[in-house]
Amino acid sequence: MAKQALEAGELVAIPTETVYGLAANALDPKAVAKIFEAKNRPFFNPLIVHIAEANALSELTIAQPAYVSALVKIFWPGPLTLVLPKSDKVPDIVSGGLDTVAVRMPKHPLTLELLKELDFPLAAPSANPFKYISPTTAEHVATQMQDKVAYILDGGNAEVGVESTIVKCLEGKIILLREGKIQAEEIREVSGVPIEKAQATDDKPQAPGMMQTHYAPSCKILVGNIDALLAENQDKQIGILAFGKMRNAPNIKHQEVLSEKGDLTEAAANFFSALRMLDAANVDLILAEYLPNESIGRAVNDRLRRAASI
Ligand code: TXA
Ligand code: MG
Repeated sequence: MAKQALEAGELVAIPTETVYGLAANALDPKAVAKIFEAKNRPFFNPLIVHIAEANALSELTIAQPAYVSALVKIFWPGPLTLVLPKSDKVPDIVSGGLDTVAVRMPKHPLTLELLKELDFPLAAPSANPFKYISPTTAEHVATQMQDKVAYILDGGNAEVGVESTIVKCLEGKIILLREGKIQAEEIREVSGVPIEKAQATDDKPQAPGMMQTHYAPSCKILVGNIDALLAENQDKQIGILAFGKMRNAPNIKHQEVLSEKGDLTEAAANFFSALRMLDAANVDLILAEYLPNESIGRAVNDRLRRAASI
């Protein structure tokens, strides 16, 4: 089903280890245009191209710094997206008119199998309406995008839960465009080149996923010390997004604890689902706290800041 729909130029939701993607034939501009329509996503915001074999990277790109093969060998399949100078094979609609293309090999058996059966790569952003919370289950996709896709390939819960780390690979250095599970330190070790963080304050963000408001639920979120914020907001119906500890107060209407054990990996996997539940809970205000700012906690904190437009 998924294969036939993609070959016919239709959209299919695909599972990945990070979040669900909204996929189309990356080499067919008309099929890719449907992604932008379905998501209501601006055309300048480029897409990630998903592949199943490392040699497909050389067809999609022209120049590769020597360290790229080491990154591919260690981190693919996995949640690392590489931005490289694009070849003519990549339609401009995929790259948003840029002369680079973002490529990754996702680590999900169903999607890898599907990609191997197709004779083209898949362009896929996260399968959510523009600026809304990324989907980590097939049900999340169905809730918001059911009528926009020909098929939803159900691959269970996304294991990682936050989107891939994105790096731009230049000669002699790497620019970190988006944080994810794979850490800058690991990338530096494997590549042997320094990593610079992109400036998120640019007028034209290097990765539009860095736009300040993103992943946002419709309800207002405050991030900080939950107990202090609770004391200040006793007159409101509250939703809590806690890392490890439950809170008690009569005005708490809904509460999500990301990991009772205080485990960062588990917290990341639950993050977007928790945000959706809170958004559906009809509270006046969501109070959230940052995770410890280490390993994948950094990527979750980044998404939390964007959700709260901080
Ligand atoms: O984990 C993921 O990366 C998921 C799954 C589905 O693979 N995909 C995902 O796609 O998060 P999306 O479209 O939500 O985010 C892709 C990000 C955007 O911020 C986009 O601006 C950036 O990748 N991007 C794509 N091509 C780029 C390029 N040539 N240069 C810089 N940034 C690029
Ligand atoms: Mg997205």
